[in-house]
Amino acid sequence: MTNWREVDTFAKTWIKEAGERIKDSFSKQLIIETKSNKNDLVTEIDKATEDFLIKKINQTYPDHRILGEEGLAEKVEELNGVVWIVDPIDGTMNFVHMQRDFAISIGIYEDGIGKIGLIYDVVADELYHVFKGNGVYMDDIPLAPLEETTVEKGIIGLNSTWVMENKRIDPSILAPLAKDARGTRSFGSACLELAYVASGRMDAYMTLRLSPWDYAAGKIMIEELGGMVTSLRNEELDMLSQNSFFASKPGLHQEILEKYLKNGKW
Ligand code: IPD
Ligand code: CA
Ligand code: CA
Repeated sequence: MTNWREVDTFAKTWIKEAGERIKDSFSKQLIIETKSNKNDLVTEIDKATEDFLIKKINQTYPDHRILGEEGLAEKVEELNGVVWIVDPIDGTMNFVHMQRDFAISIGIYEDGIGKIGLIYDVVADELYHVFKGNGVYMDDIPLAPLEETTVEKGIIGLNSTWVMENKRIDPSILAPLAKDARGTRSFGSACLELAYVASGRMDAYMTLRLSPWDYAAGKIMIEELGGMVTSLRNEELDMLSQNSFFASKPGLHQEILEKYLKNGKW
């Protein structure tokens, strides 16, 4: 039997330690490489952070498996048992250019069900945390359940480049949403944007493509607080592959799907 309280305590300790190590790297020269395209950055600190977390998890829980963005652990092809889904630095571009607004994200799942989620904003030193069934916290502050809202009153997280990125998307589909919303925002770290939805700083976040390590922790938090997390077609997300992504407060989720997204070929 998994002692989830113990797992939770270790996960909190390790994510903070990993954050300290990232901060120690600020004074050093980074080795920056690119992955899928010239703007998809990775540094040796992303890899060292994933490696640090893998070693801690493996030493303490040899039967747990790890799905990490940098792929340093054994490949995970199904979600049975306990799986830690890890993004060692989410917002690497912010890390490289700004030394802020990036986070470590860890979602811990058992047989595909989210149990524990942690998102650590390293520079702000804010730890968002959920233990399923026990509420969501930012440090020691409990987060309130998400209440219904509307586009008119909503701040929507969306990435302005996604309209250019994909030739299938007609920009006129999203323009009305950007126009009708109270405001739009783009912070460059998907997991932090999900923590902002959980904490009420934003009302929704959507994007064309997101990977499980970007949203594994945030999904548990938003659902725990009564929010919705689906694809842009209102489908359940596949935790083992990329998805289009839409997280929102209740009410707003339905309004955006019905009024704005139904004509998109996502
Ligand atoms: C990226 C960030 C970014 C989002 C991208 C992600 P990375 O993660 O979360 O905000 O728009 O889709 O890939 O590469 O910095 O871990
Ligand atoms: Ca990421
Ligand atoms: Ca990353």
